[in-house]
Amino acid sequence: MKKIDRSKINEMSISLGSTIRQAMEVISRGGIGTVFIVDTQSRRFLGLMTDGDIRRAILKGWSLETKIELLERPQAKTAAIGMNVAEITKMFGETVRVIPILDQESKIVDIALYDQRLRLPVAEPSLAEKELAYVTDCIVSNWISSTGKYVSQFEALFADFCGSRHAVATSNGTTALHLALLALDIHQGDEVIVPSLTFIATANAVSYTGAKPVFVDSESTTWNIDPDLVAKAVTPRTKAIIPVHLYGHPADMDPILEIARRHDLAVIEDAAEAHGAGYKGKKVGSIGDIGIFSFYGNKIITTGEGGMIVTDNPDIAQRVRLLRDHGMSPSRRYWHPVLGYNYRLTNIQAAIGVAQVERIESILQAKLDIAQRYEKQLEGVAGIIRPPQAKWAQNVYWLYSILVEEEYGIGRDDLMAELNLMHIETRPFFLPVHTQPIYNTGQYLSVSQELASKGLSLPSSASLQKHEIDRVCKAIKDIHKKVENKIRVNRTS
Ligand SMILES: Cc1ncc(COP(=O)(O)O)c(C=O)c1O
Repeated sequence: MKKIDRSKINEMSISLGSTIRQAMEVISRGGIGTVFIVDTQSRRFLGLMTDGDIRRAILKGWSLETKIELLERPQAKTAAIGMNVAEITKMFGETVRVIPILDQESKIVDIALYDQRLRLPVAEPSLAEKELAYVTDCIVSNWISSTGKYVSQFEALFADFCGSRHAVATSNGTTALHLALLALDIHQGDEVIVPSLTFIATANAVSYTGAKPVFVDSESTTWNIDPDLVAKAVTPRTKAIIPVHLYGHPADMDPILEIARRHDLAVIEDAAEAHGAGYKGKKVGSIGDIGIFSFYGNKIITTGEGGMIVTDNPDIAQRVRLLRDHGMSPSRRYWHPVLGYNYRLTNIQAAIGVAQVERIESILQAKLDIAQRYEKQLEGVAGIIRPPQAKWAQNVYWLYSILVEEEYGIGRDDLMAELNLMHIETRPFFLPVHTQPIYNTGQYLSVSQELASKGLSLPSSASLQKHEIDRVCKAIKDIHKKVENKIRVNRTS
């Protein structure tokens, strides 16, 4: 956000009695394409006009000598003195590029200008009044630890959202995975099949139990674990499969469930990145034996840090609750029949979670709208492969992610560097876990490795505005054109 010289505010202001001609003169002197209308005596802000508003008035037949009080003026967006930069930044839009900042007497004290150099983050949380109200309630009522009404409310709301019978909140997605594996009694000597192309937590949770994560390659169509290869990876030691719904697109669950049935294996869905994603009419997380979610700050909904386990199995839910709370018997205080953990979510975090679930549908809709705008604008850009959307799946586009092929002209890393210079943050795909120093299995998993080298995620926050998506797409197209021209010049010279 740019600021301007405050002493110039008066020079950029006119009264309602001024004419279109005077407004145009002020706009042309001011250099921000906008004139402010103020009360001559009190200097109170009354509205503003942009050069576009004036152009439209003239096209409607108004003369240069028309008084601007006769013209239609759009409702102006204003900020109040004391608002922070982030709050003001959110007010900018496709047509809102100038925001006057007013004091208590409605006088302009400063002007915020939209800056093309404004950094677009990949994913930032969408927090609103309800989150603040519920957190305030925790503080006012003194319920700030893991006991309190919001934890059970959050669990009930989230179970309902997923279409699962039980939900148990945990301190994060990784502890949710760990507890899910423990509840299934997975331990040293067991094997658990996981995709290699995932965040490392999927595999680490397996390692925490002493079991061995067995890495399987992904499908190039969905970017998720390849069911044919899952079947081949099953051994007598295999106890479970953890499909991951990567970047918001569901894994192909039916063949995975079929393999699990055939070999008597459990299925834990890692839906950390896919709240609300659909698979053949069901929500992810509710399809396997257990589903887990993350509510880390960049996820579809957030509690800062946080996680959830969902299941239809009451025994699993009960066991997870026991393990989450130091293994303490629910019927006898300080009596610990099993080795447990402190993996609880706090009431404050759950309060944020309740507010987030209450408006998850609008967050998901915003994500879908963002994806559709990207889809339209990136269609046909040479060398850009858009994210998967299988017929049987409802992708929730946690992160709108693309692949950069050779045809684009430069590689993924160079594109990321160029976008970074244009203040557009991107994120490379996860590095395949089987290649990480702590696992380093020596496997060659061609699809995962190729996706990891070509994939990047674009800005995808639910608050992202249309003009910001347009800015990202234009940047991707401009960079491609620049590279193409360079290649052409090199060929002809
Ligand atoms: C696929 C996947 N699984 C598990 C996790 C772990 O969740 P958390 O960060 O809440 O521990 C993440 C989080 O980033 C994830 O992306």
